[in-house]
Amino acid sequence: MKEFTLKFDPDRKKSRIAPEIYGQFSEHLGHCIYEGIYVGEDSQIPNIRGLRKDVLEALKELDIPVLRWPGGCFSDEYHWKDGIGPREQRRGMVNNNWGGVVENNHFGTHEFMDLCELIGCQPYIALNVGSGTVQEAAEWIEYMTFDGDSPMAKLRAENGHPEPWKVKYIGVGNESWGGGGSMSPEAYADVYKRYQCFCREFSGNELYKIACGPNADDYHWTRELMKRINGWHAKGISLHYYTIPTGQWEHKGSSTEFDEKEYYETIRQTLRMEEIICRHLAVMDVEDPKHDIDLVVDEWGTWYDVEPGTNPGFLYQQNTMRDAIVAAINLNIFNRHSDRISMANIAQVVNVLQAMILTDGARMIKTPTYEVFDQFKPHQGAWLIDSYMENTEVGTDYVTVPMLSQSVSVQEGDVPEEKRITITLSNASLDQEAGLRLQLPVDYVFDGKAEISLLHGEVHAHNTWENPEQVKQEAYWKDWQGAGHRAELVLPPCSVCRVLVSVRRLDAV
Ligand code: AHR
Repeated sequence: MKEFTLKFDPDRKKSRIAPEIYGQFSEHLGHCIYEGIYVGEDSQIPNIRGLRKDVLEALKELDIPVLRWPGGCFSDEYHWKDGIGPREQRRGMVNNNWGGVVENNHFGTHEFMDLCELIGCQPYIALNVGSGTVQEAAEWIEYMTFDGDSPMAKLRAENGHPEPWKVKYIGVGNESWGGGGSMSPEAYADVYKRYQCFCREFSGNELYKIACGPNADDYHWTRELMKRINGWHAKGISLHYYTIPTGQWEHKGSSTEFDEKEYYETIRQTLRMEEIICRHLAVMDVEDPKHDIDLVVDEWGTWYDVEPGTNPGFLYQQNTMRDAIVAAINLNIFNRHSDRISMANIAQVVNVLQAMILTDGARMIKTPTYEVFDQFKPHQGAWLIDSYMENTEVGTDYVTVPMLSQSVSVQEGDVPEEKRITITLSNASLDQEAGLRLQLPVDYVFDGKAEISLLHGEVHAHNTWENPEQVKQEAYWKDWQGAGHRAELVLPPCSVCRVLVSVRRLDAV
């Protein structure tokens, strides 16, 4: 067993972890919206106004702070007016990006806002910049947020919603460097400025405008964009980076069949996120030393070859303990950069890529990634605190990766001296336990028993229709000893662990 000491200081608060870091993404892609979230009012599957109840319940439990919609690539072909009014009269379209299927637009603005209200999250709207018009974008914002007698507000009322909605997050284009228009950063910056100009703040609704940022490690895009849009009301720029085990789009690898080498290679690919973030932030700092503009990682997660026999355009993949480790590593990275990352949206919430939930007709399962998001919930809105641990490398002859990842946050208790600590850890080793000592500064002691949740299993383990709870977090007490300044616990190989524990200042005991 490898031994580690994790030191943390409850008084050394670094930055508030924006709840939005735990955001999700829902696109009109495969069975994310239709069948996954929306089944229609006449469905045999229990639903509320067409939104399936089992999925609503599971998503509500996750405390999702924000949901991005309608894409992705889809958003750059989406004409929002086709998705309002009586459903049978809505104009369809071809979903050119995702399988060429015909989209009937039965799920539109009202259905999406209903979904957000039912699960208690904020909407994040991706505007159509690729094939839309500035007028369309401007009218959509008026439709959603204007409180009064305007043409769009009247139309909204005619469609059954007289009250405006609050919409804070607005994305100006998606992947404008690629599928969203193949623009240069210089050209996109002009387009961004024109669009943002007409995204108005109506009726006290404040917008947080997000410009289209880079793909993965394209630092040139960030540099040229930042030079041109700083001062033009962007609150954030987006970043997309996916974990592809082989690093090759043509052959990404299977979601369930992989060997040890491919596993550690996946972890190596996911750890690139840290370097990519740091380097983009360094580039952003040159133009924006006061940090007025945040980084929004609005697409991330694993991307494998689709499950055999499924539509290649639907991006349906299984989700194993490997995905759980990937999720934990990324969320720990985002927490540790919460001074500059204001939001992150894993792709995608249901049935697509690294999903929280998979459905098949009336059946639904929660994935290992769902469990990780559930474990990490207490970090939302808490303060990241200084933590330090010497790590070690694990892996194969071909690739090694750091064994553990971690982040620690604090919530103020009712008594100022008492603090509630959340520690999240992952052990990426496939065969080694980690003996972990948690070490407080001398003026703090552990106060009472910890609540520990553990997710672990063989790396290929996943939930299926036959065995829906094969991978599920469990309460874990094994070898927890906490007294005085120290506590100890053992992390099994291939595991994600969350420790919730109170600590107290000695002079207050
Ligand atoms: O999440 C799937 C797709 O990946 C999105 O539509 C696009 O933005 C990205 O390339």
